[in-house]
Amino acid sequence: MLPFFPPDLFEDDREVLLDLVREVALDPEQRFLLGRRTAEFENVIAESVGAGDAIACGSGTSALSLVLRAMDVGPGDEVIVPAFGCAPLASCVVLAGARPVFADIDPWTMVVDPAEVDKLVTPRTKVIMPAHMFSVMADMPALRQIATGASVRLLEDSAVGQGGVLAGRAAGAWGDAGVYSFVQVKTFGMPGEGGMVVTSDPALARTVRILRNHGQVRRFEHEVIGCNSRFDEIMAAFQLYRWPTLPARLARRAAIGEYYTARFAALGEHGILAPPSTRDGRCYYVYSLLCDRRDALRDFLAARGVGSHVYYPAPLPHQPAFSGYAEQGREWPAAERAARRTLAIPVYPHLTDAQVEHIADTVCAFPEENQSWENPL
Ligand SMILES: Cc1ncc(COP(=O)(O)O)c(C=O)c1O
Repeated sequence: MLPFFPPDLFEDDREVLLDLVREVALDPEQRFLLGRRTAEFENVIAESVGAGDAIACGSGTSALSLVLRAMDVGPGDEVIVPAFGCAPLASCVVLAGARPVFADIDPWTMVVDPAEVDKLVTPRTKVIMPAHMFSVMADMPALRQIATGASVRLLEDSAVGQGGVLAGRAAGAWGDAGVYSFVQVKTFGMPGEGGMVVTSDPALARTVRILRNHGQVRRFEHEVIGCNSRFDEIMAAFQLYRWPTLPARLARRAAIGEYYTARFAALGEHGILAPPSTRDGRCYYVYSLLCDRRDALRDFLAARGVGSHVYYPAPLPHQPAFSGYAEQGREWPAAERAARRTLAIPVYPHLTDAQVEHIADTVCAFPEENQSWENPL
């Protein structure tokens, strides 16, 4: 069985991780959070994306919340978010006291459609918050233009986009602030919780830095009401150790994705659509197919030992938690179709060539054995 979520993501670095646990535990400084390793990790990330600052925090979700707070988002404000994506896109906005306004997506790339975003800007809009998805970065140049034209902030949810580059600019560096998540399955995942805010806006950076640690400017000096969203020193040491090998893992993901796309090129006419083959603005996170008979494809793959995963089975405004915030009577046809048709197949970097070939062969065998299909778009 080739699982969608492999149990051995960090196996090669197990000994190093154990050594780092010992090193941090026995360090005379006895700093387990926000110590010198975290500061070094922040510098490495800021420099790598050309951002003025990077602030490590407790998770990608927490990073979004910290930035929304720092952008002064609150009751009466609207934040435009994709109608299709992970729950924090909506929940962080609601928890800030504002209203998420759901924009429909592009039916193929599944990232938010800038034309839909543009239609939803009102005088109450405070932030536009796109997210990179699966295999493709959001159309940041168009979204930047809309945000600048409307004089609203742009918060780039790059939780899954780390390593992507669009028009020469890194994922995360397009917004007034960008966020990353290091949860295990992400492109720069780790065995624990963590996130990062990157920004070149010194005022935003300062506020996020204060907010993540109880609103303190110095120990026991609380300038604002903050929260506890700190970064773990063991994880910082582990990420610093793994940083030099990230490009090779990204390149492997890209190579697997390109191989799949080449193999699946002919499947469009059989109702299975691969992501666009672009190199620019590519996301290395998840390889998602669109398939009209998605559940049948999932069962077909499972029966042949290939794990797959449905991100996400329902658009955000259809989730009970968020439907009360969604505009009544509005529909999100592209998000609704994506939720019915999307299926992700394994793309993790330690898949062998033979495993990748087996996965591609199995997907390609599906239409041969299942003749009825519809156009996936
Ligand atoms: C687009 C997106 N934003 C935010 C998050 C939240 O990140 P975390 O799980 O680190 O809180 C995730 C992932 O889980 C995500 O996919």
